Amino acid sequence: MARPRPSGAGLRIKSPERLVAESGADLEGHGLKRTMGLFQLVCFGVGAVVGTGIFVGLSDTVAEAGPAVVISFVLAAITCVFTAFSFAELGGAIPVSGSSYSFAYATLGERMAFLVGWCLLLEYGVSVSAVAVGWGQYLNELLNSLIGWELPGALANPPGDGGVVNVPAVIVMVLAALLLVRGMRESARATAAMAVLKIAILVLFCGIAFTAYQQGNLSDFAPFGLAGITSGASLAFFSYIGFDAITTAGEEVKNPRRNIPLAILICLGIVTVLYCLVAVAAIGAFSADGVAETPAALSLIVNEVTGSTVGGAVIAFGAVVAIASVVLAVMYGQTRILMSMSRDGLIPRVFERISPKTSTPVAGTWIVAVVFAIPAAVVPLDAIMNLTTIGTLAVMAVVNFAVIALRRSRPQLKRSFRVPFYPVSPLLGIGFCVYLMYGTGVETWVQFAVFLAVGVLVYAGYGRRHSRYGADGASAEAEPESVAGPGGEPEATQAAAAEAPRGA
Ligand code: ALA
Repeated sequence: MARPRPSGAGLRIKSPERLVAESGADLEGHGLKRTMGLFQLVCFGVGAVVGTGIFVGLSDTVAEAGPAVVISFVLAAITCVFTAFSFAELGGAIPVSGSSYSFAYATLGERMAFLVGWCLLLEYGVSVSAVAVGWGQYLNELLNSLIGWELPGALANPPGDGGVVNVPAVIVMVLAALLLVRGMRESARATAAMAVLKIAILVLFCGIAFTAYQQGNLSDFAPFGLAGITSGASLAFFSYIGFDAITTAGEEVKNPRRNIPLAILICLGIVTVLYCLVAVAAIGAFSADGVAETPAALSLIVNEVTGSTVGGAVIAFGAVVAIASVVLAVMYGQTRILMSMSRDGLIPRVFERISPKTSTPVAGTWIVAVVFAIPAAVVPLDAIMNLTTIGTLAVMAVVNFAVIALRRSRPQLKRSFRVPFYPVSPLLGIGFCVYLMYGTGVETWVQFAVFLAVGVLVYAGYGRRHSRYGADGASAEAEPESVAGPGGEPEATQAAAAEAPRGA
């Protein structure tokens, strides 16, 4: 009689121990350095999150939902909170670079991991392009406030938005790449400083706008009903994208089992309070219609309230800094995810090469900067924002599902954090992700389906054939799935943990 096939063999599920062992290269002095503490990590998260969404996208969100945009923000935040719990549990159990990609590899197998990595090109790569476009808009706003001159439309907008090429968007991406290749330490410090500054700028905005607060501006609270609130929540979600970048820094974090979950929750708490305050202050001072019709609303509101252009210039300066730090943090995340995929052989090896001089993936960083500078230069902002959102939500739904899968396959695995009310929390996370995906609209769903289909083809044509894991023992490692008993850790995973790190 034929021997039964191990349950995970076809899926190529990689054990958490093996993932951690592979990322342990730094302990031997060969890979990335562990330099980031909790404060740096929280700042890194805030740096990745607060940017184009609140400074530029607030107007569109208010246009959809009216003053009920506050509910939209809360709905988007709730989605993130449930998902953040799941990220925290997985990040605490599998503290490695690669974020949701690695989590999917450890729970749902290689094919799903590849597709998650593929969708992360939307969450990170395409979103870097979108964020860089938003940066260009505020740079012009700043130039206008300071010297009464701005870049001509042809050089500041993409085709379709009255321009030819978006030069500022390309410039900010090149600057971010230059900082990143110089080394994580400097990049993290720069991001931390910018994160503190952007919090200060948003608090300053609230302080000024609340002096002109009129309760009547919020009286027609939900002019477009539940439909408006739903599509508003999908748009608002863009403002939260990036908090999971914290988990992509797993290999560079001190005490990752404690610091990663804590940093995610602290970062999300700070950002949610800030967004709700900014939205209420803006509408209270300027009315929902006023905010909806004004792209650089925060600067303008401050100008109106103070009766001078100085305040607006300060806010525009803050936006330029804030959005630049998002570009930096999100581009960093993209390079680390690609590094993980490259180590696994699913994409070409160039992405895993770490420069001995800087301890950073120099070639991979430049490839990301150049490839995603192209959409930044020639594609309008709104055309790529929804695609970023749906791709991110799909990844997050998988992450919530992965928590359930890992609890079932590895109940005894050491976890520094456990989602509360399991399995309600990850199930609600999945439900909220699907709800917000629904809010992005049919056109976005079609684009996303095409994108996914291409991903499936790339995996079949390249990833599966070049997979190192497939080549060196997927079936051996799939054994624990079939032999794990309720009382203990599977034996085969100990062998996997003892494997020599692959090195960089
Ligand atoms: N959350 C990021 C932003 O708002 C993508 O710019």
